[in-house]
Amino acid sequence: MKNKSKIPVCVIGAGRIGLFHEFDKKRVKPASHVGMWLKNKDCELLAICDKNEKNHFIAKKLNKKIKYYTNIKKMVDELKPKIVSIATWKDTHYSITKLCINLGIKVIVLEKPLANNINQAKSLLKIIKKNKVKVLVNHRRRFDTEIIKLKKKLEEGIIGNILQVSSYYVYGLLTTGTHAIDTLQFLLEGLAGKIHKVHGFENKFGNFASSDDKNYDAILQFQNGLKVTLQSLNIKKYDIFDFYIYGTKGKILITDIGRSIIKYKIQKSPEHTGFEELSKRPENLCKPKPRKQFLKLAENAIECLNRKNAAPLCSATDSYKDMEIINKIILSAKNGSKEKKIKFE
Ligand SMILES: NC(=O)c1ccc[n+]([C@@H]2O[C@H](COP(=O)([O-])OP(=O)(O)OC[C@H]3O[C@@H](n4cnc5c(N)ncnc54)[C@H](O)[C@@H]3O)[C@@H](O)[C@H]2O)c1
Repeated sequence: MKNKSKIPVCVIGAGRIGLFHEFDKKRVKPASHVGMWLKNKDCELLAICDKNEKNHFIAKKLNKKIKYYTNIKKMVDELKPKIVSIATWKDTHYSITKLCINLGIKVIVLEKPLANNINQAKSLLKIIKKNKVKVLVNHRRRFDTEIIKLKKKLEEGIIGNILQVSSYYVYGLLTTGTHAIDTLQFLLEGLAGKIHKVHGFENKFGNFASSDDKNYDAILQFQNGLKVTLQSLNIKKYDIFDFYIYGTKGKILITDIGRSIIKYKIQKSPEHTGFEELSKRPENLCKPKPRKQFLKLAENAIECLNRKNAAPLCSATDSYKDMEIINKIILSAKNGSKEKKIKFE
């Protein structure tokens, strides 16, 4: 029996991020879409839809009442969810999101990336806008309270004017590089404008990514002249998601896959009279612990459902801009690293 006082929710795609991460002892909970909706007191997770029936048995370990479907239309027609999460692989995001919109869903939590390529992304964005659907794309740093605070602090001048930025990611420009590009746009757009030109480069060293989504390096140019490097490393050696932000009054380092945010002040050089250096005793701006980003994601989705003017913290338009930059990086890399301009829609 449906609980009428709660918002009905369904999850499409109960794989790693959809479900299994909930069982990873090291991860802060909730760590998955199923876990996020089960934890939320305003929502009732009615069902999962997945091609693999085994995933239903696993989901039922968390809550016995969760129903199972293999057909998205049947699930939506029968259960009439107000919110759906889509956590299937990226090459299905376009068709499944479009189907959910056609079935009348008005709030969708969609795993990144928005779509598998720029043409799909463009077409999906049009459909989303035309149908006035609120799509929250899970670029998780936009749901991270400490990254949100850092954006404000940077805008207030915590390290003065931003002069140079470098960043590092692993495992595919579209799969993970998209998080780095999204974080850069989120943190820097208010200060430096949009990314309007890029140069792309192939990574010629040993690195690991799937054959349809390689690692590329890039120089991203913001409208105010700020240049940011984006470089890829090998996930088989170690995972990394680092940002070095240099300003006129110090430096911010985001490291440990985003868990640690560290500020370096300027101090007198211990070695050279008359010179200044960055502090050897940096200050942690937050506890170096993972944040419960899934809680904020669910909260934002509910707000989007309940309030007409509420907007996604990471919208389909935000995610589309990431895809446009990715597309131009790849085109540039395949074209002798020539500069490519980004058109704004
Ligand atoms: N935001 C993040 O930090 C983060 C982290 C990991 C993965 N992801 C993203 O989440 C998505 C899923 O990744 P994953 O690692 O969980 O993949 P996965 O392969 O572990 O899970 C995908 C699940 O979707 C199911 N599925 C696929 N097509 C389906 C369909 N048409 N109908 C019903 N079920 C279907 C599969 O059976 C599988 O269980 C990807 O887009 C990935 O980029 C995001």
